[in-house]
Amino acid sequence: MNDRPVLIFDSGVGGLTVLREARVLMPDRHFVYVADDAGFPYGAWEEHGLRARIVELFGGLIAEHDPEIAVIACNTASTLVLGDLREAFPETPFVGTVPAIKPAAERTRSGLVSVLATPGTVKRQYTRDLIGEWASKVHVRLVGSERLAGLAENYMRDGFVDEDAVRAEIAPCFYELDGRRTDIVVLACTHYPFLVNRMRKTAPWPVDWIDPAEAIARRALSLLASTDQAAPQRLDLAVFTSKAPAPSMSRLVKGFGLTHVAR
Ligand code: DGL
Repeated sequence: MNDRPVLIFDSGVGGLTVLREARVLMPDRHFVYVADDAGFPYGAWEEHGLRARIVELFGGLIAEHDPEIAVIACNTASTLVLGDLREAFPETPFVGTVPAIKPAAERTRSGLVSVLATPGTVKRQYTRDLIGEWASKVHVRLVGSERLAGLAENYMRDGFVDEDAVRAEIAPCFYELDGRRTDIVVLACTHYPFLVNRMRKTAPWPVDWIDPAEAIARRALSLLASTDQAAPQRLDLAVFTSKAPAPSMSRLVKGFGLTHVAR
């Protein structure tokens, strides 16, 4: 029996898209969800400062929660700091979330793919390397959105989203070349799947939207020791680095079955 939690980390509510899938695949595990809401949005951070911040945060999180595994449910963080985390905490297995460029390149029929992400993820060398490695025969457009993560965050907390803003943010993903047009948009920020219905509604033509949450949860499951006994009933926890999240945020995580603990 393994009583150690699965830790899921993001800058805000985006990692809940991964938690949702992880719960389905690992109903017997318990979870600690960490939102670095004091650092949100990660997309706008300068790389050196963000890297140092996340490694330092993990020192405290690992000491406090002793997770069996840590899932970085954030592209902006994973493409920057995964290597540093593995080096700093060799005892903890880390699962990252990186833009799903390989499946998109395998699946596209038109050969035109867009990767929709935060400005941070779009800038990363890691993202460029993924394109070079897996999608050299495909046309990949990187679209950095300043606003979508915030729009998703507000939508989840307050239930409202400005559809015109969503339309404007996704518009650059849609392009045509030699009579062909984009047929896949990679959702390379864990916040975006929460807005996918609005994206479908405001898109100029239908495309496949790739949401990697299930694949990430499967990867995490594959690294966990198997258990034949259910872990004792324990509460799934939510930790906010701001220490005092907005009431709408506390309500939201409660709706996901998480109990907010002050850290
Ligand atoms: N959810 C994060 C990601 O997957 C980023 C949101 C942000 O903090 O800007 O990239």
